[in-house]
Amino acid sequence: MPTRQTERSPTEQSPREPSELGEADRQRLATPLTIGTVQVHSRVLQSPLSGVTDLVFRRLVRRYAPHSMMYTEMVHASGICSARKMEKVMDIDPDERPISIQLFDCRPDFMAEAALKAVAEGADTIDINMGCPVNKITRKGGGSSLLRQPQVAEAIVQAVLQAVDVPVTVKTRLGWDDNEINIVEFGQRLEAAGASMLTVHARTRAQGYHGPARWDWIRAVKAAVSIPVIANGDIDSVAAAIACLFQTGADGVMCSRGTLGYPFLVGEIDHYLQTGQRRRSPPPLKPLPAPLNTCVTSGITKANEACFKPANT
Ligand SMILES: Cc1cc2nc3c(=O)[nH]c(=O)nc-3n(C[C@H](O)[C@H](O)[C@H](O)COP(=O)(O)O)c2cc1C
Repeated sequence: MPTRQTERSPTEQSPREPSELGEADRQRLATPLTIGTVQVHSRVLQSPLSGVTDLVFRRLVRRYAPHSMMYTEMVHASGICSARKMEKVMDIDPDERPISIQLFDCRPDFMAEAALKAVAEGADTIDINMGCPVNKITRKGGGSSLLRQPQVAEAIVQAVLQAVDVPVTVKTRLGWDDNEINIVEFGQRLEAAGASMLTVHARTRAQGYHGPARWDWIRAVKAAVSIPVIANGDIDSVAAAIACLFQTGADGVMCSRGTLGYPFLVGEIDHYLQTGQRRRSPPPLKPLPAPLNTCVTSGITKANEACFKPANT
C-alpha cells in the first residue's frame, strides 16, 4: 500500500494571488527549461490529450507557441510493440520539435521496447503516463494505478532509461484519492529512479477532472525534488498561469483543457513569461455551423466521457 501522508493539503491558505509575476520570477521563467540533456526554450507545455493532440492540433498550437514542448496523445506500449499503433506515432512532422511521445503500460519490458521505437520515430523525450484515471487502464495496472505501485513505476522508468538515450519524464497525479495522497514520496522515488522531469496534475485519481486543481501540493513536490516540476490543472489563462507559478514555484506550466477552442493559450502564456507583456490574441473560435459542431463535440465528448466516468465504477 502507498504511504498515506495526510488528508489535508500542505498549506491551509494559499498566498495572495498577484496579477503579475515579480521580475525575479519572470526572469527565471524566461530562461530555457532543462529536461535532462534537452533544452526547451519555453516553460509552457501543451499536454497530451487523448483524441485531441494529434498532428493537426499540435501544429495549430505551435503556430502561436513555436518553442513549446508538445505531447502526442498517450500511446499503449504494447500497441507500438506489435506495430498496430505505429502509424499514429509516426504522425510527427520531422520539423516538429520539441516533441514528446507519451507511453502507457505497466510492463517495464514492453515500455522499454516501445520507447526505443518512439525515439526512432523522432521523440525528443519519452513521457510515461502515470495519471490516467480511466478504469480500462487502471484495472490493468497502468496510468494512475502506478501511484499505488511505486516499485513498478520505478522499474518502468529504469527500464526505459536503459533502452533509450533521451530523457524520460513522468506525468502523474496527487495520489489515488484523498486518503492516499503520496505525490511527494512518489516524486522523490521517480527522481531517484532517473526521471528527468515530473508533471503533476494537481488532482487525485478519484477527482477525475472535477473540482479545483490543488496547486499547493505542487509546491510541496517542488520543495522535495531537484528535477523540474511542471504544474498542471486549471491553467486556462495567463492570470491562472501567473497565480499557479506564484503559488507553487514550479518550473513551468502545462495547459490542457484550456487550449480546447483556444489554441493561442500556450503562446499567450509563453509571451508573457518572455516579455512581461500580454499579447492580444484573436477571440475564441466562433462556434461551427450546427452539423459540424455536433460532429466535433461528439468526438470530444466521447473522449471526455471515457475520462469523466466516476472513478470507482
Ligand atoms: C479529453 C482528455 C484527454 C486526455 N488525455 C490525456 C493523455 O492522453 N495523457 C495524459 O497524460 N493526460 C491526459 N489528459 C489529462 C490532461 O492532460 C490534464 O492532465 C488534465 O486535463 C488537467 O488539466 P486541466 O484541468 O487544465 O484540463 C486528458 C484530459 C482530457 C480532458
